[in-house]
Amino acid sequence: MLPYENAMTTAPGAWAGAIVPPLTHGGPQWNRIHLERGCSVSVLEDGFGRRFCYLRLSITEACNFSCTYCLPDGYRRSGAHDFLSPEEISRLIGAFVRAGVCKVRLTGGEPAVRKDLDAIISRVARSGVEKIALTTNGWSLEKKVADWRAAGLTHLNVSVDSLDAGVFARVTGHDRLPSILTGLERALDGGFTAVKLNAVLLRGTVGDGFDAYADYVRARPVSVRFIELMRTGDNADYFAAEHVSGAVLRDWLKVRGWSPRAREGDDGPAVEFSHPDYLGRFGLIAPYAPGFCDGCNRLRVTARGRLRLCLFGDGGLDLRDLLQSNADQDALIARIRTALGAKPQGHRLGDGDTGATRRLFPTKWTPVRR
Ligand code: 5AD
Ligand code: SF4
Repeated sequence: MLPYENAMTTAPGAWAGAIVPPLTHGGPQWNRIHLERGCSVSVLEDGFGRRFCYLRLSITEACNFSCTYCLPDGYRRSGAHDFLSPEEISRLIGAFVRAGVCKVRLTGGEPAVRKDLDAIISRVARSGVEKIALTTNGWSLEKKVADWRAAGLTHLNVSVDSLDAGVFARVTGHDRLPSILTGLERALDGGFTAVKLNAVLLRGTVGDGFDAYADYVRARPVSVRFIELMRTGDNADYFAAEHVSGAVLRDWLKVRGWSPRAREGDDGPAVEFSHPDYLGRFGLIAPYAPGFCDGCNRLRVTARGRLRLCLFGDGGLDLRDLLQSNADQDALIARIRTALGAKPQGHRLGDGDTGATRRLFPTKWTPVRR
């Protein structure tokens, strides 16, 4: 058994958090995960010995999709769009790189709604970060993917919640799948280090959906990551109706001969599965599984420059005042290091506590049915 396999064994009560899975972890297997997944060069370390080499930076709250689990009524602007400028982003990333961060993921909302995305990517690339990833809903993939690559993007994650065009349109509110699939072919020819698909596991779309993804990855070097639906402050009813345990996928994979792979240094929280007859892989991100937080190696900064220590944490620490001048880099690193001392051991999703996270990336919901 692989050391992390226990971690991904769904807790009896993981479904809808009905029974609280233990979120305090310990024991030798977890220490091994730290060693395997930690980042030796980072000086950013929390009180639990976790080192942070991976930063997720949101560059906008706006989005042009209306995914049923996230923005069922579409994005409604509230307040000024005073998101970090490319200059502020340069300074922020510069400090994190000096502190040992080697991977930066740009997220949103939908990052590609920013007209200056290419400029942001090239600035991040110039800061010396090794890996620059983008999580996108694929809206402008077909048109823009070559520009992003030219600007220095190395890793691409595209959300594709179904490979059935009709289901895709119902989940996202946009009949965009054909264009996204064309964009993905361009990405695969474009020299990225990695191209991944993200799909949220929904009760209404599982089932024969897995077969379509397996066909997709048979001859393509793509990893499809299924993410268990997470409960946020805004989606409680939807969550109760649509959440399915990752065990559904694990069982499906097991009977078809897929096996879990060992993890690598800066791996995210996904457990990946491979199969000798398939070039691509399946992945599973199961945030309700016990031990999920133990190997946490990521920090998050919001589109307005607040440091969040956990995706599901409250509040956040404002960094923006230290992004106005190159002279503040040392002070910025010192502030981040002090804040890390207060990072909690794990999220409290199992207790139904979603922190300040009203949605991940307002509040009527529609069940998604094939
Ligand atoms: N649960 C799980 N995944 C989510 N995402 C957005 N909201 C949720 C949620 N409540 C995913 C999107 C995309 C990535 C940005 O986060 O599908 O893959
Ligand atoms: Fe937009 Fe992503 Fe939310 Fe879908 S999941 S509405 S693409 S931010």
